[in-house]
Amino acid sequence: MSWQTWLEAAATAREEAGLTRQLRPRGPHDATSKAHSIDLAGNDYLGLSGHLDVRRAAAEAAMLWGGGAGASRLVTGTLTLHGELEAELADWLGQPGALTFSSGYHANLSVVSALADKSAHVVSDAHIHASLIDAVRLSRSQLTVVPHNNVAAVQAALAARPGVRTLVLAESVYSVLGDEAPLIELAEVCAAYGALLVVDEAHGVGVHGPGLVARHGLAGRPDVLVTATLSKSLGSQGGAVLGPRAVLDHLVNTARPFIFDTGLAPASAAAALAAARVARSRPELADTIRARVTGLAKTLGVPAPAGAVLSVPVPSPEAAVAAQAELLAEGVRVGCFRPPSVPDGVSRLRVTAGAGVTDEEWERAAKAIDAIVGGDR
Ligand SMILES: Cc1ncc(COP(=O)(O)O)c(C=O)c1O
Repeated sequence: MSWQTWLEAAATAREEAGLTRQLRPRGPHDATSKAHSIDLAGNDYLGLSGHLDVRRAAAEAAMLWGGGAGASRLVTGTLTLHGELEAELADWLGQPGALTFSSGYHANLSVVSALADKSAHVVSDAHIHASLIDAVRLSRSQLTVVPHNNVAAVQAALAARPGVRTLVLAESVYSVLGDEAPLIELAEVCAAYGALLVVDEAHGVGVHGPGLVARHGLAGRPDVLVTATLSKSLGSQGGAVLGPRAVLDHLVNTARPFIFDTGLAPASAAAALAAARVARSRPELADTIRARVTGLAKTLGVPAPAGAVLSVPVPSPEAAVAAQAELLAEGVRVGCFRPPSVPDGVSRLRVTAGAGVTDEEWERAAKAIDAIVGGDR
């Protein structure tokens, strides 16, 4: 089969399954101007991307350092700014140290591929993010996938391979289902079997202040490692790993997605640093998210998520796209979860109850959502 034929067949198959995806460029003011749509599709949970301190920090850093870090971290791409950001993140999340990456994806790839290899065992929740799935593939470790949030299954997997170096992978708040991992129980089981618990806090940090690992008193433990993104609540771009210094040193020396990648851009590092400071000083932003997400979940009769994203199941991928288009016509931008982004194959409308829109905008958007998908429930 020629490349041309193969590509055409793949495009037709996507079309027939209602799974064609398109890039939809938006203008610079779409998310911030009242004249434009209300953005409930993004991940800027605390609304900090457009915060004046954050924009200013990014602009000043670009003027001072230039457009990029200029090299990989081990060459000349480690800036004092990275150190400042890492110290701030570690202090906020209550961890001994932090290491930043050019994305959360790279942070996850790095942790798993540097800590696990063919001789290691990885126990992964069935709803884990794609970046962790790819990370396990990269590591070539022995994998056990356990049913979602099932601590007994994690324990059974650990008991099945005693003495094998094991990582257990979880998200503090799951991106699609929006529920919370039983972190305390997972940490207990990991400690009992000598396993390392890796918690992806992409949807926990900011929405839950320093994140759920910290909130549950698990920060700073030698057997609990946190990964995070700077691109959601911190409104910037980049990722981080937080935990024991020995692990961070190991990543610096062996993690290929860290070593062979240009350092985090100065503007992104400075923006994330400014955003972390704002988030720490304004806990009411997280309270706004809680109030909004719980209220809308009640209206729609769906479970309230632990994070900022409300998932509203819809009958099919096509129905999700149609509802999304109807809402856009009403001036409300929401996202869609469709296969392959949903581990259970159920398409959903994805509504971010962020703190970045005004009360009036939120009320208007919530009414439109209820009118368009509320009746289906
Ligand atoms: C759970 C989770 N982990 C990691 C990532 C990747 O983060 P980034 O966008 O910074 O690469 C995401 C982003 O979608 C995520 O939802």
